Amino acid sequence: MASIQPEHTVYSGPKAPSPKRITLRSIRSKYSKGEPITMVTAYDYPSAVHVDTAGIDILLVGDSVAMVVHGHDTTLPVTLDEMLMHCKAVSRGSQRAFLVGDLPFGSYETSAEQAVRSAVRMMKEGLMDAVKLEGGGGARVVAAKAIVSTGVAVMGHVGLMPQSISVLGGFRPHGQTAREAVRVLREARDLQEAGCFAVVLECVPPVVAAALTRELSIPTIGIGAGPYCSGQVLVYHDLLGMMQHPHHAKVTPKFCKQYAAVGAIIQDALQQYHAEVTQRQFPGPKHSPYVIEDREVEEMERMLRDEGFHAAADAIEEQVHGHRVTPISD
Ligand code: KIV
Repeated sequence: MASIQPEHTVYSGPKAPSPKRITLRSIRSKYSKGEPITMVTAYDYPSAVHVDTAGIDILLVGDSVAMVVHGHDTTLPVTLDEMLMHCKAVSRGSQRAFLVGDLPFGSYETSAEQAVRSAVRMMKEGLMDAVKLEGGGGARVVAAKAIVSTGVAVMGHVGLMPQSISVLGGFRPHGQTAREAVRVLREARDLQEAGCFAVVLECVPPVVAAALTRELSIPTIGIGAGPYCSGQVLVYHDLLGMMQHPHHAKVTPKFCKQYAAVGAIIQDALQQYHAEVTQRQFPGPKHSPYVIEDREVEEMERMLRDEGFHAAADAIEEQVHGHRVTPISD
């Protein structure tokens, strides 16, 4: 029996050839050549396909999912199980980017064992290539070291650490005093010594990012940290201008450049669809593609009458004689 190929089914399209995967080696090679590293977040299959096919090097399944997808005000509520679900979907949509999964708040801070357990789940179940964790102090450095020694690549994250807003006093820039800037540098250095392959630098002045990037021997990936980092990362929804609805606009950070206004395009499309359905303009003949032969319709009408389905049989009769119940045009 011939096997059914996905492209012959209703929803799937033809398969494109798989491109070559980005690895830790390719990221290190870009860093050593001084080539900027690109990173964007993704949270599901379509966003992963978009980010991946755009040629972005690193795809981060960020815990920002809590805010931009689940609608929370902070990243704190998202759980490891929820992150794993997003990671799995992203891994199905990505063919070439290096995949990093964010360890969510509460999944790695308690002990090295807890951190390793969570990281291993990210790799085995979430199918990630590496994990990310926030913070450079004490337990977090221990966690990073333990995870790396298990054989899992770790990306660190310093500066504004959204998982610590409770003690940091909200979403605010970091490294704006000499003392704080040096602390951020120390934390990044500790993460490097723990074996991290890169570190995200969030919301620090460009001069602090430049100093840190020069001091470290691993890539710095900036977000709101100016141009002197080894690479840049933005949140998918922010970059695309997704949340542009007057009643539901979540704040887009000041540092984010919006490369599109996708939210407005989505609104427009949905309003058109709403109007066309309510005015019975959609679906017309072009979008009603499935056919049944006339003799099958006649037989169906006869069978329906025999079984007492008179309303259904009447509807068929109306169709056959050209009197549609509700006229629709394309
Ligand atoms: O969760 C996230 O999206 C992040 C980026 C802001 C780096 O950590």
